[in-house]
Amino acid sequence: MATARPEDADAEGKDRVIVGIDLGSSHSLVCAWIDGAPRLIPNGAGEVLTPSCVGVGDDGRILVGKAALARRETHPWDTATRFRRHLGHPHAVRLGTRDYRPEELAALVLRTLVRDAEAFLGEPVTEAVVTVPACFSGEQREATRAACELAGIKVERLLSEATAAALAHAVDLVTDEARFLVFRLGAATFDVAVAQLTDGMIGVRASAGDDSLGGDDFTALIATQAFANGLPDAAGESVAFMRDLLALAETAKCELTRRGTAHLEAAYGETSVSVALDGDTFATLTQPLLNRLWYPIERAMRLARIRAADLDHVILAGGATRMPVIRALATQMFAREPTTTIDPMHIAAIGAAVQAGIAMGDRALRGLDVLETGSRASPTVASSSTATSVTSASDPTLDLALGFAADVGKQPVTAVQGLLANALAELRKRYIDAPGQFEEHLIDLLVAQRIGQRVAVFEAAADAFHWRLADHLDALGSRGDWIRRVLTEGDDWLALDERRRFEWLDLAALGEARLDAPIVPCWPEMRVMRERFPTLIGLFVSTGTLANWKAAFDALPASSRDRPKRVVPGAESRLSTAAAAADRDRRRKAWRAAVLIVVALALCAFALWHGAPRR
Ligand SMILES: Nc1ncnc2c1ncn2[C@@H]1O[C@H](COP(=O)(O)OP(=O)(O)OP(=O)(O)O)[C@@H](O)[C@H]1O
Ligand SMILES: [Mg+2]
Repeated sequence: MATARPEDADAEGKDRVIVGIDLGSSHSLVCAWIDGAPRLIPNGAGEVLTPSCVGVGDDGRILVGKAALARRETHPWDTATRFRRHLGHPHAVRLGTRDYRPEELAALVLRTLVRDAEAFLGEPVTEAVVTVPACFSGEQREATRAACELAGIKVERLLSEATAAALAHAVDLVTDEARFLVFRLGAATFDVAVAQLTDGMIGVRASAGDDSLGGDDFTALIATQAFANGLPDAAGESVAFMRDLLALAETAKCELTRRGTAHLEAAYGETSVSVALDGDTFATLTQPLLNRLWYPIERAMRLARIRAADLDHVILAGGATRMPVIRALATQMFAREPTTTIDPMHIAAIGAAVQAGIAMGDRALRGLDVLETGSRASPTVASSSTATSVTSASDPTLDLALGFAADVGKQPVTAVQGLLANALAELRKRYIDAPGQFEEHLIDLLVAQRIGQRVAVFEAAADAFHWRLADHLDALGSRGDWIRRVLTEGDDWLALDERRRFEWLDLAALGEARLDAPIVPCWPEMRVMRERFPTLIGLFVSTGTLANWKAAFDALPASSRDRPKRVVPGAESRLSTAAAAADRDRRRKAWRAAVLIVVALALCAFALWHGAPRR
């Protein structure tokens, strides 16, 4: 067998045997760069996919891969799967007589892969390039390194799976300039990376992802459909039944890919149900998951400042992208057929092997390398306090929101709806649909506007917010929850009597205009508003303002607190109370000055009268 070290390697690569490893949630692969090409290495069973599965046999022996997976049927409690998602977390699994940390379980899989590689190559493997999802956190990356260390493997490099896919694809390109988008959906994770090949260097311009979205979720939805079709709830409490049901759902999912239709039959006690699937029913069933794919894609493209039309290649990676529903979505999103020349389940391991070849100094790969400079963009976006400080140059969606917010400041409130419609039309014309982003920025920007305008914009845009955001809030994590609360409270707000709304807005404006004692008696009324609209008030009035106001109120003697001061209804402007308060303040100061002057004049006169020489 030819060695993994290329024949024409640099002196630098001498004595180093580096392999590429794709450590996956469901399967792992090892691939070597041999004689100028990547070579997937088969395991003892002759297969290139090794299940990421660890079990303990009756004799206490550790089983890894297919053997462990087979034993899971009869010994589910002594088998661990899907542990990669727990890397970096204190989550031990008991197998046989001892607990295993996720790093230890991953190390057992890594060790098996390296042994397979050593048997195949006929020499010891010294190092590995190991892939990780782009959405992996620092802790998860550290835990992956720790797993390699436990397995006795030196990590040459951790490479994001999406970048590895771009690298695998770049090797075969005749050009050395190209822009890629990698769309990677594995068993448990989703990543998008926008990468650019320039003079042989692959730079990641931006990446985004969701570390709790993958093919497993599509399988779970098929299983859920069996319950919708009549399985009793009690079935869900049987671990053995659920394991079998998920296995049937997984088979049905793959069958649907292969044949375009699939059928699942399940029975629990007296009840038997069936689920019939075809392309359309599956697309409808999985719509909530498909919606979640949009946000990281839009985010990565926005961060990379690239339009769909400017991409040269859209590359699919990860086994779940084999599903026709995903391919159709990618085709629709990018208005072209995505590239699948390399099997999506193999592409990350192949890219890791290319990186291994580069590290070993293969001259054929000279000049090609990866420069991972792109930011790791978490699915959670900037909080409202930071979003307004983002520079608009880096974010075209923010540019539009800024322009809209500025226009609103100059136009009458009645023009808001039209301005909003223009901004949304422009958004669609210039970018791939950007669900949620524009509205998020807009909500943030409202905080920087004068309160009257802020509320007017919110009220005018409420319908549009609902229409645009509804399907995407889940993808925004805690930020999505915040927006959902704003929208729900917004409905209650709009249902209020208009006069009551004006009163409360007067109060809010007053609270912003003046934070000193004279307005503090308004606090009980403000407290009612805050209790009723805890989230919305944070949008209408800054939380700093509220906190200051509350502190001033709490500092008052108890007797003077509970005199709610209702703002006079029917004031001409919602902001008139604030203006009047400022006016009163000015007048009070003027009076005080006048009194001081009169007193000073009287004193002077007195002094003159008494101090003057008597004749
Ligand atoms: N023919 C197919 N049709 C539908 N789904 C498929 C098919 N083949 C594989 N899959 C799905 O692909 C997923 C496994 O892909 P892959 O091996 O790339 O993931 P992984 O590397 O284990 O996971 P991750 O990268 O998220 O850690 C599973 O959810 C599996 O059901
Ligand atoms: Mg993977």
